[in-house]
Amino acid sequence: MRKKVTVVGAGQVGATTAMRIAEKELADVVLVDVLEGVPAGKALDICEAGSIEQHDCKLTGCTDEYINAEGSDIVVITAGLARKPGMSRDDLLSTNMKIMKSVTREIALVAPESILIIVSNPLDAMCHVAYESSGFPKNRVIGMAGVLDSARFKAFIAQELDVSVENIQAFVLGGHGDTMVPLPRFSTVAGIPITELMSSDRIAALVDRTRKGGAEIVELLKTGSAYYAPASAAVEMVEAILKDKKKILPCAVYLEGEYGINDLFIGVPVKLGGTGLEEIIQVELTDEEKEGLQNSAASVKTLVDDMERLDA
Ligand code: LAC
Repeated sequence: MRKKVTVVGAGQVGATTAMRIAEKELADVVLVDVLEGVPAGKALDICEAGSIEQHDCKLTGCTDEYINAEGSDIVVITAGLARKPGMSRDDLLSTNMKIMKSVTREIALVAPESILIIVSNPLDAMCHVAYESSGFPKNRVIGMAGVLDSARFKAFIAQELDVSVENIQAFVLGGHGDTMVPLPRFSTVAGIPITELMSSDRIAALVDRTRKGGAEIVELLKTGSAYYAPASAAVEMVEAILKDKKKILPCAVYLEGEYGINDLFIGVPVKLGGTGLEEIIQVELTDEEKEGLQNSAASVKTLVDDMERLDA
């Protein structure tokens, strides 16, 4: 039986996600958007590339017809506004909260057993909305951010040291925002911690660039935010789940006491497998790292409180 993934939002991130899923032959894809024609057009376009890219995945695009998402194994939610220059991810809060609520309610009706991968910003807060509106258990609501943030950190380390990006492992904790916590001591090149290979000033510069990685792309694109790397990151999570790979990836998940954080979605290393979130991996942090994570959690908490006020 073929797997089925629904991608909600046929913008740049959603369409690129659909394309990569098809090109890796991971699943049939349903692309849903509020716009007329766009999801159907993009799905058809990806399908027409199939003979060249050599995939047989079925792609369907539809406008708000959630019934097409019925029985999906995974639903990737990218719907919502993206940032423009000068905007923070948090500026998107009230609009994207409403969109996330209505999308997850629709999905819960037609695909009640699916695993949700949340991509819309502000990411950690949108995970909360999805968790509450879907009523899904916490193993089936997972946010994509750490995979993207650590991909950026890896790219910058590879460029700095002029080594293959395949040699690099990197580790980023915390919320998907300026307070994210890249962890140099767990970031390695062929197993060697980067702290052995780079000066602390250079590491600090790469950490800072990683924190501002999303904004750097927004400033360059002017009309929207990044989509190639965000789509790749979402698809790595889709693949880990569909293939039950038990892959350790940094993802935003609901914490209940882990890392001293309660009732909040925040990025931590987790094991992703066939049932979604299978385990939260806890590592001992230094005082400074703990402080960074708490600081990041506090800024996510502010957004969650703001949403409650907006909702009242
Ligand atoms: C970024 C957006 C997608 O980090 O949050 O590029």
